[in-house]
Amino acid sequence: MVPFEHRRFLFVTGKGGSGKTTVSAALALALAARGLRVLVATSGAKERLSAVLGSPALTTKIEPLQKNLWGVLLASEVALREYGTLVLHSETLVRALFDSKYVSGLLAGAPGLKEWALLGKAWYHANELEPDGSPRFDAVVFDAPATGHGLDMLRVPKVILAAAPPGRLRSDAERALQFLRDPKRTGFVVVTLPEEMPTNETLELLQALEGELSLPVAEIVANSSLTPLFSAAEGHALEPFVMLSGSATESALAAAARRALAERVQAESLLRLAATAHPLRQLPRLNGGVGTPQAIRELIRFL
Ligand SMILES: Nc1ncnc2c1ncn2[C@@H]1O[C@H](COP(=O)(O)OP(=O)(O)O)[C@@H](O)[C@H]1O
Ligand SMILES: [Mg+2]
Repeated sequence: MVPFEHRRFLFVTGKGGSGKTTVSAALALALAARGLRVLVATSGAKERLSAVLGSPALTTKIEPLQKNLWGVLLASEVALREYGTLVLHSETLVRALFDSKYVSGLLAGAPGLKEWALLGKAWYHANELEPDGSPRFDAVVFDAPATGHGLDMLRVPKVILAAAPPGRLRSDAERALQFLRDPKRTGFVVVTLPEEMPTNETLELLQALEGELSLPVAEIVANSSLTPLFSAAEGHALEPFVMLSGSATESALAAAARRALAERVQAESLLRLAATAHPLRQLPRLNGGVGTPQAIRELIRFL
């Protein structure tokens, strides 16, 4: 069991369809159940998070969802506007700027700025304080955009540091990068399917996170794992029948062979993931999917 509790910011990343939203929901619920005050943040127009949590659609305003759990939809326009307000210290001025076509076009053209605004807002809430000085949230779980966009987003602070003149934008980027790189406060949760191609992509993602960006990986989640039915010897005996067809007996044998093959590929993928030396957690594939709050509760048992 990896101690997630001490990390204030959990960045859940991986390829689209690997289960980022599912894992984010399960993680947020698991932490909330342990008594932490958790904010779960997601982005994207068609957010699935609220459906999985069984709550009303998320909005760009932080709303309570259930005990110890809050949710927010991160939209870059709103985040950018809020960010502008923080930097420029004037809502009226910001509104004037952002409502002018010319200036908003200029800002929209700045590479990575939109992504930075999303990440900046998630990071901002991870560090937000109550008036009495205590943290507003114990943990922020960020259901990040799929790998490509997720990496673009993570490259932004570095770009700002290389390009921006001294000022608020630059000092914010410095603080954000320090925070994101601190394993005591931030953890990257890399979600994958234990299959061959997703594993290749996950190894590349890990390389980018650690090698290129020096970011702390908390653990790898092999989501949608099969529970093995066959021993290695049984699988070996079955595999030659994978293309068999004809009688009912023959197609049953072929079905068993396909399953044995999938189990072997999964075992090989898990070995490759384990070889990275990061903690590796398996979440089972649930028949019938995980679109409901009950299904998510099934998964929480493994967190
Ligand atoms: N452990 C699981 N068992 C069965 N189905 C799953 C599991 N995890 C995810 N799924 C299904 O896979 C699809 C993609 O999951 P989702 O969490 O939306 O991925 P992502 O956010 O990475 O795109 C969804 O239809 C979801 O119900
Ligand atoms: Mg998703």
